[in-house]
Amino acid sequence: MGLTRPRSLRAQLTILSVSVTLVALLAVLFYVTPQLESSLRDQKLRALTETARAFTPQIADLLRRDGNDNAIDTRVSSVSDRTNARVTLLLVIDGTEGLELAIFSDSYTDNRITDLDLDVAEVAARRGRVARGLGASRAGEVGQVAVPIRDDGTVSRVALFSAPMADVQGNVTLIRREILIAGGIGLLLALLGGFLVSRSLARRVRALERGAGQVAGGDFTAVFPTAKNDELGQLAHALDDMQHQLARLESARRSFIATASHELRTPIFSIGGFLELMEDEDLDEETRRQFVATVREQVARLGKLATDLLDLSRLEAGSLELRPEPTDVGALTRAVSAEFAPALDKHDSTLAVRLRDERIEAVCDPERVAQVLRILIDNALTHTPVGTGVVVSAVRDNGAVRLAVSDDGPGISHAAAERVFEPFFTSDDAQGSGLGLAIARELAERMQGSLEVDAAPGHTTFSLELPA
Ligand SMILES: Nc1ncnc2c1ncn2[C@@H]1O[C@H](COP(=O)(O)OP(=O)(O)OP(=O)(O)O)[C@@H](O)[C@H]1O
Ligand SMILES: [Mg+2]
Repeated sequence: MGLTRPRSLRAQLTILSVSVTLVALLAVLFYVTPQLESSLRDQKLRALTETARAFTPQIADLLRRDGNDNAIDTRVSSVSDRTNARVTLLLVIDGTEGLELAIFSDSYTDNRITDLDLDVAEVAARRGRVARGLGASRAGEVGQVAVPIRDDGTVSRVALFSAPMADVQGNVTLIRREILIAGGIGLLLALLGGFLVSRSLARRVRALERGAGQVAGGDFTAVFPTAKNDELGQLAHALDDMQHQLARLESARRSFIATASHELRTPIFSIGGFLELMEDEDLDEETRRQFVATVREQVARLGKLATDLLDLSRLEAGSLELRPEPTDVGALTRAVSAEFAPALDKHDSTLAVRLRDERIEAVCDPERVAQVLRILIDNALTHTPVGTGVVVSAVRDNGAVRLAVSDDGPGISHAAAERVFEPFFTSDDAQGSGLGLAIARELAERMQGSLEVDAAPGHTTFSLELPA
């Protein structure tokens, strides 16, 4: 389809390259060549002027020595031969009707020549200075230089040198023809070059377009032409990277949905099973009570799972609103820790709160900080054996507030430590769904802070750092 589009990239580039060459050719033809012609004419006239100035004294000398007409004719002819110009000696007559010129001697013909323009000679006679210009003659356009010859201070004669300009014209025509031929070849090359370059560019662009279309359609196996390292190659690299990124996101999204639905299905099936069992008429009261307790537990688990999933999706969509306010983080730590008194009791554990200062002030969203602390303390009790000691500490340091939850439980293996923040990751048999730390880290990042784990056998510390 790119081929049939009238304004395809290929057509545009070809037109561009041909137009540039054409403009250059026209500029040479209509601007450079006329200038060349006028400067050649000028040069020729200047050279003729120098010749005329150099040779006129030879004629003037003979006149002064009163040479006879024949001697003068011979001298005029010899000067003409040596200068390659037609030389005409004119007599200046101060007549009743002003200055008049009469032909005295001419290197080409007899004295009655009428083909020569005498305007330049007249100017020289009137002004008493060397004059030059263009005139007409039988042989076509000629360049003329007239040199006045003085006799007792007054201009008595004028030596007129005429040289044909036809060769300049010829040279210029020749140059123009050569330019046209070179320009024609240049145009052909531009057409061919423009066509070839733009065809290869257009092909690569089409390949990119095809690949992008494939990716847009959800197929992440597109092959982008990344071989060349020019701008299009870089674009291809960028699209390829984008494709891999999208493929990763897509597979993460799929596995998230698969795990989430699995996690939701398990308690629902379990509830269904227990409800069926409870329909049995012969069930004794004690067993029924146990079943009710289990169903209630599963409902609670479902409820927590639903809340966690909602939290996580809100966090990832960036739609969770933070309400920062000046908060005493120390007091907050104490309050959250106190909530765990019943759980500690059940777990037979002790929890110590260590605060470096009485008040630790920070501007943060207290609800969200409490949520992270709850997740961490809950883990320290859920994933450790009965009787494990837990320490919750808070310090203000270097413009940041650091909250840490440590326990001397079994620790987390190096491989597991790298994955604990992934959604649904669990590495032990505890009944959690693996969303706690994923939510906690998202929350920390939303608060411009960070959440890190430091674990060794027999020791685990999660620290939350927040800007203060
Ligand atoms: N203090 C800890 N000591 C040992 N292992 C831990 C500790 N905290 C977390 N873990 C490990 O990290 C995993 C992920 O924790 P996370 O809080 O994300 O999920 P969960 O506790 O399993 O489930 P949920 O919190 O969603 O109910 C846990 O399954 C556990 O294996
Ligand atoms: Mg947890």
